[in-house]
Amino acid sequence: MGVWGREHSAMDELIKKAAADLAAARKVVALTGAGISIESGIPPFRGKGGLWERFDPMEVAHIDALMRDPVRVWNILVKEMKEIVDTARPNDGHKGLAKLEQMGKLKTIITQNIDGLHQAAGNTDVIEFHGSFARQRCMDCHKKYETLNVDLSEIPPRCGCGGILRPDAVFFGEMIPPEAMWRSRQAVSECDLMLVVGTSAVVQPAALMPVFAKETGARVVEINPERTPLTGEISDYLIRGKAGEVMNRILTEMDFVGE
Ligand code: OAD
Repeated sequence: MGVWGREHSAMDELIKKAAADLAAARKVVALTGAGISIESGIPPFRGKGGLWERFDPMEVAHIDALMRDPVRVWNILVKEMKEIVDTARPNDGHKGLAKLEQMGKLKTIITQNIDGLHQAAGNTDVIEFHGSFARQRCMDCHKKYETLNVDLSEIPPRCGCGGILRPDAVFFGEMIPPEAMWRSRQAVSECDLMLVVGTSAVVQPAALMPVFAKETGARVVEINPERTPLTGEISDYLIRGKAGEVMNRILTEMDFVGE
């Protein structure tokens, strides 16, 4: 058998293993990152084509940068993000997780993404660990606005009170919304399998969630084309591939197992 054949069958085995593990699991929690939205046309942060290849995150995504010069942050980052997020649609990765919820397997998604695509795919319990881009909030009075309805003819957009609007998302240097933190800890403490999909697992405290899952005795399964710091340390195995393709293959295999 050639090298390709060996890799191919190893992949088949892992897909089968994941399907069997999911079939046996009672409470699955997923932790997702930018990788799951790449197939929807949203660029990731790290790696090839990533946002942090073009911008220094400390210059555009740190709370100090936003407070110092909101116009600059809007012009460099937020305007472009709005254009991309406004039109993005869920892909097979998101849809696969929605199907797992329908099947009664998946309970909660903890996502680092701010694009709202898990909810658009139909998942009903989504913890937005880094907040959401679906809303903007006034930096003065904290009133919230639907991003879709925010008029960008003037940058920065402003609240009725005159204050500047900012994404209702977590910037570097800001706290994780406390409710997202405690709800995530709770969900993780109850799960028996965690799917970790499309995250480089380098940003804390999100990357600690699989560690906590492991601690409670859950199986941890990664889906990612690349290895991460969790691979071989925390995760039981890594299925190397794109989220959409891998989810489709796992679900097909689960159908097959269920027949
Ligand atoms: P990253 O951009 O750090 O990582 C994206 C991951 O997706 C990498 O591990 C890729 O190998 C993987 N990937 C690439 N293509 C994929 C595909 N088709 N399917 C599945 N995986 C794929 O994104 P995050 O881990 O989400 O925070 O980054 C974490 C946080 O860092 C973000 O929430 C953001 C960022 O700075 C804040 O802005 C606070």
